[in-house]
Order: sequence, then C-alpha cells, then structure tokens
Amino acid sequence: MSALSSPLRYALVGTGSRAQMYIDALTGVHAEVGRLVAWSDTNPGRVGVYEERLRRAGAQLPARFAPDEVGEAVRRHAVDRVIVTPPDARHADVVVAALDAGADVIVEKPLTTSEEGVRRIAEAVGRTGRRVTVTFNYRYSPRNTALKRVIAAGEIGEVTSVHFEWLLDTAHGADYFRRWHRDKATSGGLLVHKSSHHFDLVNWWLDATPTRVYASGGLRFYGADAAARRGLGPRPERGTTDSPLRDAFCLDLRREPMYKALYLDQEHHDGYRRDQDVFDPGITIEDNLSLVVDYSQGATMSYALNAHAPWEGYTVGVNGTRGRAELTVVERGSVLLGEDGRVLVDPSAHPDAVAADAARPVGERLVVQRHFDVAQEVPIPAGEGGHGGGDAVLLRDLFAGVGDDPLGHAASWRDGVASVVVGLAANRSLDSGAAVRVDQLDLGAAGPLVTTAP
Ligand SMILES: NC(=O)c1ccc[n+]([C@@H]2O[C@H](COP(=O)([O-])OP(=O)(O)OC[C@H]3O[C@@H](n4cnc5c(N)ncnc54)[C@H](O)[C@@H]3O)[C@@H](O)[C@H]2O)c1
Repeated sequence: MSALSSPLRYALVGTGSRAQMYIDALTGVHAEVGRLVAWSDTNPGRVGVYEERLRRAGAQLPARFAPDEVGEAVRRHAVDRVIVTPPDARHADVVVAALDAGADVIVEKPLTTSEEGVRRIAEAVGRTGRRVTVTFNYRYSPRNTALKRVIAAGEIGEVTSVHFEWLLDTAHGADYFRRWHRDKATSGGLLVHKSSHHFDLVNWWLDATPTRVYASGGLRFYGADAAARRGLGPRPERGTTDSPLRDAFCLDLRREPMYKALYLDQEHHDGYRRDQDVFDPGITIEDNLSLVVDYSQGATMSYALNAHAPWEGYTVGVNGTRGRAELTVVERGSVLLGEDGRVLVDPSAHPDAVAADAARPVGERLVVQRHFDVAQEVPIPAGEGGHGGGDAVLLRDLFAGVGDDPLGHAASWRDGVASVVVGLAANRSLDSGAAVRVDQLDLGAAGPLVTTAP
C-alpha cells in the first residue's frame, strides 16, 4: 500500500506481551499505512497499560470493545484487518468472528489448537473469501531465509531427510510451564504452540506437506512428579521457596517493569498468574519430545524438542541427493542466576545474566557441503531485533505490503494449517502410541488442502 492512500484500519484482540510488537509498529514506524482504531482484552487492566503508554506518547487511543463483540467492533469501527493475539485456544473464535464481519485477519501462530478450530476457520474462509495471514516470523530471519535459498537453488539436490533439534533453555523453556501454555487444552502443548514455527519452516524449506507423524515424549523435568523425584514437595507460599532448585525457576515479576505492569499489577482483575511454579501438579504438556515425520515429496524428518536445556538454539541438517546443508544457531549460550539465586524472565535483556561464553558463543553458521567437495560456509546477512531479525521484516511485509517475494515468505492460512497438523497428529500419536497419518485428522474443508502436495 502506498503512503498516499488512506491507512488501513486495524483492531487488535489480546493485549498481552506479544501485542506490544504490533501496537508499537502501528503507532510508530508503520503509522502512515495502518491505524489501530480498536482493541480488546478480557483483562481491562492490561488494555489500560497500553493506553497509558500511548497517552504518554501523545498518540490517539483506540476504542475499547468487549472480547465477545469482535464482529460488532469490526462493523462499528469500519475495521479492515483484525490482529489476533490472545492465547492459542482462543484464536479460532476471534478469526471466525472477524472473517464473518468482513475483515481480513492477521493471526499469531499457531493458527489454532484443535481439529475443530481448523474446520471452523476453513468454513469461514470458504464462506467469506477473506484473507488470513499467519505471522510466521521465523521464516523472515535471515539465517532461515538463507537455508531456504540454498535448498530452492538445488545446491544439495532433492531433499531426502532432515534432522532438526530445537533446545529451549531453563529461562525461555521454563516459561511455558508457568502459565496457560502448560495446559494442553489452551496451548495444544509445545508441539502445537512452539513447534508449529519449526514445522512451518520445514514445510517451507522443502516445499512439502507432512503426511504421517509418530511422536514420543513426556513431562520429565518440570511438574510435580519430577519435582518429587528430586525431593521437592508442594511449593510453599508464593515468594518463599524451599530449595535452590525451586529458587532457580522462581520468577520475581517485580524486577521486570513491563511484566509487573502487564501481569502482576493486573492479577486482581482475572487471577491470571504469570509466575506459577514450574513444579506444580496438573501440568498437561510435555517437556521432552521426539518425532518422526514423513513428507509428501518423499523426505523424512527426525525432530526433537527439549525445554530444559542449559543453552538455547537449534541445529538443522538437511540431506540431499547432491550433498548436505547444516544450520547451527546459538541464541543464548548459557543462563546464569542472579545474586538472589533466581532466574530472569528475559536474561538476554540483562547482559550480566548472560555469560560471554567462550565455549558456546552466540552466533549462527550455515555450511553447505556437496558430495566429493569441501565444506563451504554460506554468509548470512545480519538481522536485528526479535526472533533473529525476523520480526522487523515480517512487520514491514504485514503493514507496508509484501514486495518482491520470490521465496514466498508470506504465510497463508493454508500454511497455518499445514504447520499445525504435525502437532495435532503428534498429540494423537502421543495418546495412542501409534503413527498417525495426516489424512486421519478431521480437518473438514481444509483436509484436501493439506493432504495434497503443494
Ligand atoms: N510468533 C512469536 O514468536 C510469538 C511470540 C510470543 C507469543 N506468540 C503468540 O502470541 C499470542 C499471545 O501470546 P502472549 O505471550 O502475549 O500471551 P499473553 O497471555 O501475555 O497475552 C494474551 C492476552 O490475551 C488476553 N485474552 C485472553 N482471552 C482473551 C479473549 N477471549 N479475548 C481477548 N483477549 C483475551 C489475556 O488477558 C492476555 O492479555 C499467543 O497466541 C502466542 O502463541 C507468538
């Protein structure tokens, strides 16, 4: 869209921490092409925090609307696009309401957490013909784009298999066990909530669709059973702890001004606790997961996710008929505890909490090696900001418009479905102990889209 045409009108649903990126973009660098005219959250205090930020910046305040009045708000405020950022299990309701009211949708990953959600979104897209964009920011980070370019150029030939390991450390990984993510009904578990990013990358890198999934895993580090094995009983009163191990996973939200304002200070409205104990009973998601996934174009992936690693990053090896590509990324080399023995919610924002790690420096490396040749390092352009530089490029595409996109970064709702079906099939596989074909899922009108090769 050109800066001369009138700005598109946006509404946002779910003003938690992820919403900040969209709010800042629409009231800052992309304000000329998009205007945030309305917003909503089940917690009025959280909306108030963002209102106060805008007030201080001298910006116009969006109108508030009730969370169950998405359709009415779209009509009342002549909204062109709705940005969907509540917890994952709420996505489908908001997406369907926005589409039915005549708006396009920008939805955070995962598109939805259930087969029913996929069916309802597919019906709404079919009914309305509106556009749904899933914000797969990882595609946009330069290192992931560089691997896509290598594969698309045929440098390693036809892909035969992929080995993908993702490590979440004891700061970031632990955080999924403190709030709604730890409830499978709300997040779909890590294979839906988190790994949908990774499964989307593989679909995109290989230009392929997943066809069959076998999964095995469990809750082995967090949760009450694991704690009991290490001699920990129930958590004592909030803010007091009983062992250095529990201390190491105890968040003190008062130390992070934005988290204190958004969560601790707003608890009285809805009881949403951002800092629950990772060793609580009742956690229904896994922290160690291994998968074997088959793809339409003939490749197989072995995938592993661990949520309590001492460092954070990932390695991907892609084998092809002409050679192999390897991407290795260290996002954080270590997690150190503060003087009080506790972890920070975002250690990377506190340089003294992240050691300059000589043995595991932060960085990224893409190496391609053709058969009967030496290995070559592929340069990766520098990326700045969140998610390996992906967030800023994604926001530009979302708000200023997708320019020349020969690698197809922009992700449609079909891509959202194709990524989430791996986690949905994997969850069925975890329950049954058997491999699950994607065409066994009940996806309604979306079924043929993801069971037919692209
Ligand atoms: N792409 C990424 O890298 C990335 C990173 C973080 C989060 N996310 C996604 O963004 C979304 C939000 O994550 P978050 O960390 O900000 O969560 P959060 O819990 O901090 O924020 C969600 C907000 O939605 C509100 N809410 C709950 N139910 C609602 C409803 N029915 N209607 C309106 N508001 C409702 C909550 O009160 C809260 O303020 C999730 O879907 C998450 O998966 C994506």
